[in-house]
Amino acid sequence: MDTVLLPPIPPNKRPILGHLLEYNRDPMGFLQGCAQTLGDVVTLQFGKRSFYLVSHPNDIEEVLVTRSREFIKSRAVSSHRVLLGSGLLLSEGEFWQRQRRLAQPAFHRERIMDYGRTMVAHTHQMLATWQDGEIRDIHQDMMELTLAIVVKLLFDVEMSGQMKAVGKCLAAAMDLFSDRINTMFVPTWLPTPKKRRFYKAVARLDEIVYDIIQQHRASGTDRGDLLSMLLQSKDETDGSQMTDRQLRDEIMTLFIAGHETTANALTWTFMLLSQHPEVTQKLATEWQTVLNGRDPTVQDLPQLRYTERVVWESMRLYPPAWLIARQAVRDTHIGKYFLPANTVVLISQWLVQRDARFFDNPDAFQPDRWENDLAKRLPAYAYFPFGGGARVCIGKAFALMEAVLLLTTIGQNYRLSLLPNRPIRCDPSLTLRPKAGLRMQVQPSGEID
Ligand code: HEM
Repeated sequence: MDTVLLPPIPPNKRPILGHLLEYNRDPMGFLQGCAQTLGDVVTLQFGKRSFYLVSHPNDIEEVLVTRSREFIKSRAVSSHRVLLGSGLLLSEGEFWQRQRRLAQPAFHRERIMDYGRTMVAHTHQMLATWQDGEIRDIHQDMMELTLAIVVKLLFDVEMSGQMKAVGKCLAAAMDLFSDRINTMFVPTWLPTPKKRRFYKAVARLDEIVYDIIQQHRASGTDRGDLLSMLLQSKDETDGSQMTDRQLRDEIMTLFIAGHETTANALTWTFMLLSQHPEVTQKLATEWQTVLNGRDPTVQDLPQLRYTERVVWESMRLYPPAWLIARQAVRDTHIGKYFLPANTVVLISQWLVQRDARFFDNPDAFQPDRWENDLAKRLPAYAYFPFGGGARVCIGKAFALMEAVLLLTTIGQNYRLSLLPNRPIRCDPSLTLRPKAGLRMQVQPSGEID
C-alpha cells in the first residue's frame, strides 16, 4: 500500500499558530467543518505540532484496538500532568496495566450492584434541598451529586465541608483547560492569573487528598472501598506497596474522571428532555409501569429500557468525553496516509456520532432509534462515548447505572424546564459541558400533567 500521502490540510493556516485560532473560536464547529469538507483524515497544525483528525469508525478501531500498540495516550500538556499525575487516565505500559488490575475489582459488575442504593439515597438528599418552582443551576447540582457519590463509593468519605472544597477546587483547576491557548502555548513558568488559580487549587486538592489517605492509613481497617484495596495492594514481583504520591494520582484521576462526565451526561439529558416533552412523557409511562411510584433499584435496570435509550441517545448527541487523543510511537499509517512518529491523532465522538453516514437525521434527539439493536448494526466505532480497546472507560457500567438511577429518581419527583430565550452554549473543554452552567426551573412532576 502507498503510505507516503499526507492528509489534506484546511486552507486557513496562519503563521506560528497554524489552525489554533479557528479551533479555539469554535472547536466542534471547526473540526466538523474540516471532516465534512476534507474527509476522514485531516492534518491540523497547532503551533509547531501536527495533529491528524481521524473520523472514520474503521480507522478509529485501528487506533484504539487493532493497532493500539502503535499508539500511546498523547503526552498530555504539563498542566494535565500536574493535576492527574500518573493516575489511570495518563499512565502507560506495565505501570498502567498494574494500576488497572488493582482498580478493576471496584468496578466489577457484582460490586457495582451494591452501589445503587447509595446513588439513590444521595439523590434524595439533594432533592430534599430543592424548592418547588425555583430556578437552579442543574449542571452545578449534578456535579455536586456525582462527586458526593464517587467519593462515598470509592473512598468511603462523606461530603463534609472539606469535600465541598474539593468540588470548588476541581472546578477552578478544570477552568484552565477551557483555555486552549493558555494550556498549549503559555509556558508553565509564566504566571498568568488563570495559572495561578490553577496551581492554588491543585495545592488545596493535594492537601485534602493526602489527608484522606492519611486517615485511611491511620484507621488500619479494610473499609471495602477502592482506596482500602489500593492501600493493601502489593506488587507481585517485589511486594512493594503504592506510595502516597501514586495513591494521590489515582484518587485525583477518579475524582475528575468519575464525576464530571456523568454530571454532564445528566445535564444534557435534562436539557434535551425539556426540549422534547414527548420523550419525557414516554419516560414517565415507563417509570409508572415498572416502578409504580417507588424508587428504582439495580434490579429494575433491565426493565428501564427506554430510560437507558434516552441516556444512550443523549450521550450520542452530547458525548461527555467528546475528544480523545493518541500519539504514534513510531512511523505508521492511517489508511493510505503516512503518519510520522509522535504525531497526535485526534478522535472526536462528537463528530462521528453525528455523522449522517451512520445515523439517520443525525442531529435529532430520537431515543427510539436504539430499538431493534441499532448498536449491533452500527460499525463498532460509530458510537463510542466510553472510548474503546484496553483503555476503555473503567467506570462504564458504574456510569450507565448511575445515569439511569439518578435520571429516574429525579424525573419521578421533578420536571425540569429550560428558561425561555436563554441560548445554551457548549464548552468543549476536557469534557463537554454547558458554558456557564444550565439554569432550569424545577417543578414537582405530579403538578405538571
Ligand atoms: C458518562 C460517564 C462517562 C463517560 C462518557 C466516560 C468516558 C470515558 C472515556 C471516553 C475514556 C477513555 C479516554 C481515552 O481513551 O483516552 C474514559 C476513561 C476512564 N474513565 Fe470514564 N467516563 C465516564 C464515567 C466514568 C466514571 C463514573 C469513572 C469512575 C468512577 C470513570 C473513570 C475512568 C478512568 C479511570 C479512565 C481511564 C481508564 C484507563 O485508561 O485505564 N469514568 N472514560
